[in-house]
Amino acid sequence: MTATAKQDQLTALFKAATVIPVLTIERLEDAVPLARSLVAGGVRTLEVTLRTSVAIEAARAMMAEVPDAIVGIGTILNPNDLARAEKLGVKFGISPGLTPDLLKAATDSALPFAPGIATASELMMALAQGFDLAKFFPAEQAGGIKGLRALGGPFPNVRFCPTGGVGEANAATWLAEPNVVAVGGSWLCPTAEVRAGNWAGITAICQRTLKALKAA
Ligand code: 3PG
Repeated sequence: MTATAKQDQLTALFKAATVIPVLTIERLEDAVPLARSLVAGGVRTLEVTLRTSVAIEAARAMMAEVPDAIVGIGTILNPNDLARAEKLGVKFGISPGLTPDLLKAATDSALPFAPGIATASELMMALAQGFDLAKFFPAEQAGGIKGLRALGGPFPNVRFCPTGGVGEANAATWLAEPNVVAVGGSWLCPTAEVRAGNWAGITAICQRTLKALKAA
């Protein structure tokens, strides 16, 4: 796949997703019921972060047992993480940031990849390697919507997925920005609900969020 085709595929995937839950899975046995509860609530595109030791196995279980889930790996910090995600066969990779090594590995890889940026210089590094869809992280803390709008000036062709401080209360405001294709965050899968196995509660959060976004 050409670099452009890979970027187009990722943009289409994010646009279709609209909201992407950032999942930190502590217990492997939660993976499948969690993915099912999100999908049941209309949220299919899932970012499984590499923040726990069971993350890779959790993503594998979701792919095997929840066919409607579109599983990606997040918190990709280095080329080794990227290689693990690609080997697993997930649909996309996301990083909270970027390094020259990671951008090089992502360029060489077939895995659609969104680097994370918070500044113009980081965005310039991403663009120099052809990455025109970036995670804006940490979105609220790094300037919020005003910060994103300011970046939109010199970089009108870049598309963003803001993450960090996004939730039910402000998701619609972020999504109304013309350069925002999706938003991500942990609000769709609160740790307390996952620990309690409150899968119906997670489905309800997803449904409420999507309903509010439709009405907006
Ligand atoms: C991420 O990696 O995208 C963030 O940890 C999610 O941030 P949030 O918890 O504020 O949604």
